[in-house]
Amino acid sequence: MSIGGGELKAFMSAQNNAIVNAEQGDHDRCGWFHPAAAHRATAAPTSGTAWRLVLLGAPGVGKGTQADLLNQRLDACHLSTGDLFRAASKQKESDQSPAMRSAMEHMRRGELVPDSTVWEMVRERTNSIRCSSGFVLDGFPRTLGQAEALKQLMESEKIPLNAVVNYELPLANIVARLSGRRTCEKCKAVYHVTGNPPKIEGVCDRCAGKLFQREDDRPESITVRMAVYERSTAPLIEFYKALGVLVSIPAIGSPEDIYARTIETLKARA
Ligand code: AP5
Repeated sequence: MSIGGGELKAFMSAQNNAIVNAEQGDHDRCGWFHPAAAHRATAAPTSGTAWRLVLLGAPGVGKGTQADLLNQRLDACHLSTGDLFRAASKQKESDQSPAMRSAMEHMRRGELVPDSTVWEMVRERTNSIRCSSGFVLDGFPRTLGQAEALKQLMESEKIPLNAVVNYELPLANIVARLSGRRTCEKCKAVYHVTGNPPKIEGVCDRCAGKLFQREDDRPESITVRMAVYERSTAPLIEFYKALGVLVSIPAIGSPEDIYARTIETLKARA
């Protein structure tokens, strides 16, 4: 199963504004999925160190929130496969291939999109992995097959992975975070109705876009996502532990607390 050129063009055009923002120093979370983000491959990291990180953790643990902070403050590029699929789901149904429609169905139910579809999208953006400012992978890899494929790609490109950050949080906190999440339909910024509300209800602080609740944040989808995480993604913890790159971080506290904990731990390893 693969994605056709039509979808890829649609993703690119949906992300054009994000790229312009990134060039102006405003780090949008969907920016570097665009192949044009390869322009950053030549840019020196403004933070001094190019971090190449994978963020692991159950759905709703706060990976996207941390990826945003890391992206903005380390000048790293942020790749979220979930954002990419959500952008694709906004396309007209007639513009979507059978493979993409099937991917959307998997996502709505809370299941994983097949590896072949995910890998096709990531492979198309190999240039972004060469980004000299570093990168943060959020939601990828998610299966042992994807992790093996990424490992081979990075070895063939001679690009090292600095660390895999595994965020840990009790289930009750995760469910509370997911059920109150709101996302900007335009720039993908993430809020929480009580923990991190926007200044004006339903409106994004950054771009004035409309906030929406994700379809897969319904209780029945959350249950499926948690089971899928345990079955398919949790085994990556042992995979990366064996490679000596795993770092576990408690995801309790404010986003700033967790960010500080993450940076402190990463710097201690560097
Ligand atoms: P994806 O978008 O990757 O979803 P996910 O992994 O389930 O993670 P989430 O986005 O739900 O949560 P998060 O950990 O990023 O938390 P967030 O920061 O938003 O994937 C969605 C779907 O796409 C998958 O189910 C699958 O179908 C498909 N897919 C994607 N990638 C795939 C792949 N590689 N292979 C196969 N299929 C794939 O935070 C959650 C909430 O908590 C927010 O409201 C936030 O404001 C709040 N919050 C965050 N931090 C804190 C804090 N410290 N304190 C209080 N509240 C907080």
